Amino acid sequence: MKKFSLLALFSLAAAFSFNAQAADRVGDFFLIDDEGKGHQLSKYAFNKAVVIVSQQNGCTDNQQNIARYKQLRTNFDHRGVSFVMLNASDEDSREDIIAEEAVWNYDLPIMDDDSQLVAESLGIEKAGQVVVVDPERMSVLYRGPMPAQWARAPLGEVLEAILADGADSRDMETVNVDMETAEGCAVEFPARDAHLADVPDYETEVAPILIERCTGCHVEGGIGPFAMNSHMMIQGWSPMIKEVIMTNRMPPMQVDPTVKTWVNSGNFPIEERQTLIHWINAGSPRN
Ligand code: HEC
Repeated sequence: MKKFSLLALFSLAAAFSFNAQAADRVGDFFLIDDEGKGHQLSKYAFNKAVVIVSQQNGCTDNQQNIARYKQLRTNFDHRGVSFVMLNASDEDSREDIIAEEAVWNYDLPIMDDDSQLVAESLGIEKAGQVVVVDPERMSVLYRGPMPAQWARAPLGEVLEAILADGADSRDMETVNVDMETAEGCAVEFPARDAHLADVPDYETEVAPILIERCTGCHVEGGIGPFAMNSHMMIQGWSPMIKEVIMTNRMPPMQVDPTVKTWVNSGNFPIEERQTLIHWINAGSPRN
């Protein structure tokens, strides 16, 4: 009896410390960059790490660190680390981003996070922030500034740790380093803040989007593999619904026979994606 309870205690302690130390998780995502190229996080899984630099037009922290980004990339890209930027500003259009790149020559793909949903999931709060992700385990290993001398800073330590022989990011925690907000680098998340204060209503806000965009196929007898016919059903499928929206898989692309080209049949508006994802993040509540 005593032996049994000791064992239970040990496994409880192990479970607890695992949870307490596990790195922050992110879901898979798909975004288009300034050159029209797609980036899906899971497709980087052959790499040890992806370094994502949060970018916003006019952010002095970005503009002053260009040489450091390039130096960091030169040091790590041949060791299995990919480098991308992510524009999470709700004010910078794709054209604005292309124009900024033409002036500053970051020479890195700039993913356009037009709905801000990826930045939110990565825990980005400011432009200039550097986020290191393990694309295989989908965990965040570092979130903080681009230091002047990365080798002697937490950023360099984290990269060396994940690149070390036999490294396993499951043994690593997220290293968070505070940073000042430089001029032009405060990222506002108006939709997230509004939805946190006032969670989207299932009947009047969420269901109408699903009816408009999804139930053409996801009905009883439809071609979709499940019917979105009750709150319980939708709540149960919420993790999958979130994934297919974040990876841009649903609504599906379709070939338009008249123009013989791929068109995104859904043309899913930003506000609708934010409403759905923020509702799911809140636990897919009925009211
Ligand atoms: C044109 C028809 C169509 C529309 C519109 C559509 N779906 Fe689907 N959906 C499918 C089909 C077919 C599948 C199964 C094949 C697949 O996974 O691609 C599917 C699969 C899914 C899955 C399961 C994915 C998996 O990997 O098992 C989810 C979740 C989903 N859809 C959500 C949605 C959401 C949310 C919308 C609306 C925003 C939507 N679908 C709109 C046809 C559609």
